Amino acid sequence: IASTIATLISGAAYAESLTVGFSQIGSESGWRAAETSVAKEQAKQRGITLKIADAQQKQENQIKAVRSFIAQGVDAIFIAPVVQTGWEPVLEEAKDAKIPVFLLDRNITAKDPSLYMSVVTADNVYEGKVAGDWLVKEMAGKACNVVELQGTVGASVALDRKKGFSEAIAGAPEIKIIRTQSGDFTRSKGKEVMESFIKAEDRGKNICAVYSHNDDMAIGAIQAIKEAGLKPGSDIKVISIDAVPDIFKAMLAGEANLTVELTPNMAGPAFDALIAYKKDGTIPPKIIQTESKAFGPESAQQQIDLKKNMGY
Ligand code: AHR
Repeated sequence: IASTIATLISGAAYAESLTVGFSQIGSESGWRAAETSVAKEQAKQRGITLKIADAQQKQENQIKAVRSFIAQGVDAIFIAPVVQTGWEPVLEEAKDAKIPVFLLDRNITAKDPSLYMSVVTADNVYEGKVAGDWLVKEMAGKACNVVELQGTVGASVALDRKKGFSEAIAGAPEIKIIRTQSGDFTRSKGKEVMESFIKAEDRGKNICAVYSHNDDMAIGAIQAIKEAGLKPGSDIKVISIDAVPDIFKAMLAGEANLTVELTPNMAGPAFDALIAYKKDGTIPPKIIQTESKAFGPESAQQQIDLKKNMGY
């Protein structure tokens, strides 16, 4: 017991002396806003000083923020990388300065994996697959024309969620993606792109389902479907990813069918890995994977209640 207490105390002491710089993408979605507020809360619980820079969706702003964190001599840098390429030069600079980097919620492509310590992320291919599997089962052999709202172009999560869904429907030739376009993970773009899909597809009558890479775009799409005089959830099925409270409210109104949860607590596991690394050199796993669960209308009210303590 004494040694456990000593370990806990020394862990807490390490945490309290740490300053972490977090380059956040922006606030494009409800999920993103929750991730930021959970990161603040998780830092506070551990006594860590957290400095957050909002990149307003631009990689160049993220690179500037990382350089500024390096200049300030922070103990670690967290990055939620808006796109997956183009990170090597700035990560080399962090490595030269001996500052460990953790990636949150999105991955990058880097030839040298030692440029970052760990990525805390869900298996986003699996998330897309869960969404696709649900539709295949739901359609039970009936034909279905799907429109897809993709996330930010070049973001790892958009590429992976597309891949997983496409793989799931590959064995069901009656289910086809007839249109696909980026809605940049925002409600307003989701609505705009869905309006154009509806216009191009016989005022929406040729569309059986919308697969959206996040809930916010799905909520925008629901609005567009309603404005076109159709019923979201029944005339056009709505499938998406994140599990934010608003999609569950849409489910309660019968306007959405399925969401796959992405936890907004990406920072907590990264803080723990950082503390262990600083304390005794423990090298964390390269991928710290978070859980992905699918939810439908039957669990909507329960999820709304649970989410009240999750930064939403
Ligand atoms: O990277 C995670 C994704 O980014 C979330 O699913 C989406 O809502 C956010 O904008």
